[in-house]
Amino acid sequence: MDDFVKVATVAEIPVGRMKTVMVGGKRVAVANVDGEFFAIDDVCSHEECSLGSEGYLDGNVVICGCHGSNFDVTTGKVLSLPAPTDVTSYQTKVENGNIFVKL
Ligand code: FES
Repeated sequence: MDDFVKVATVAEIPVGRMKTVMVGGKRVAVANVDGEFFAIDDVCSHEECSLGSEGYLDGNVVICGCHGSNFDVTTGKVLSLPAPTDVTSYQTKVENGNIFVKL
């Protein structure tokens, strides 16, 4: 048994966009980078703004909409202040036009 949870359809998240989804009670931001899907914690490590709903995607970089911290959406690694720490990244997969995330 795998623990992947369906979170959205491919059609719901176009290239260059993100969406905040709920997985097991946790907010996760799912991003479409050139047709490949990545998932990270939705909660910015600075002041808890929603990366998926209030942020912007530039290539593989998520820019927090609140104070501008950058994160690599493929790894969760923080790239610029003021966010102090990385966010967790999660495995994704696509099957039959649906996106799945594993916590
Ligand atoms: S809440 Fe994200 S940079 Fe401040």
